[in-house]
Amino acid sequence: MQQKEERFIIPHKGNITKEDRQRQKGHKSAILWFTGLSGSGKSTLAHAVEEKLFERGINTYVLDGDNIRTGLNKDLGFSAEDREENIRRIGEVAKLFVDAGIITLTAFISPYRKDRNFVRNLVEEDEFIEIYVKCPLEVCEQRDVKGLYKKARQGIIKNFTGIDDPYEEPENPEIVVETDKMSLEESVKKIIDYLENKKII
Ligand code: PPS
Repeated sequence: MQQKEERFIIPHKGNITKEDRQRQKGHKSAILWFTGLSGSGKSTLAHAVEEKLFERGINTYVLDGDNIRTGLNKDLGFSAEDREENIRRIGEVAKLFVDAGIITLTAFISPYRKDRNFVRNLVEEDEFIEIYVKCPLEVCEQRDVKGLYKKARQGIIKNFTGIDDPYEEPENPEIVVETDKMSLEESVKKIIDYLENKKII
């Protein structure tokens, strides 16, 4: 086995802390981690919550497929290993954003519990808010916004989450929104109320 190369990396610690940045911005920072099946409404919801926060002058940023899988993670596919690496990198980026004092919203299927828990453990306890965007597979498949479920059923796309690849439901998410039962406004309100109650905003 190849010996791991010895590395000499000594991080530089700046004088401006996360708390300094939060004080300057007037709110705490956190990761709002949206997880759920393709077509469950993760991106729609993340962007709608971001708009509400933005209107209130809160510093926010959304990480989702468009800006991650076409850029930072364009080398990754959908095997279990690639999904793990996808979530790991997103988690590390989100952690930097939290350090920068930003409320960071992420919209990824993130089907594996261990990968989501890896991100949870990267930040402080109250900084990771798991939001389960719950929607029955049949409804997501009926919506089939991108036509991908049809392709998965035809066998054109392999390892499609919910069809021939697993989705592990969150066991203790901080928030659950049921997008087949609740309106977009109701779901947004539930999330904003949570942030207010926890004094994050
Ligand atoms: S993961 O599992 O968290 O790494 O996936 P993610 O980065 O969120 O990417 C999911 C989007 O990629 C499209 N797509 C697939 N999804 C699931 N399984 C397979 N095999 C697949 N191939 C492509 C799909 O459009 C997902 O987008 P959303 O927004 O979830 O519908």
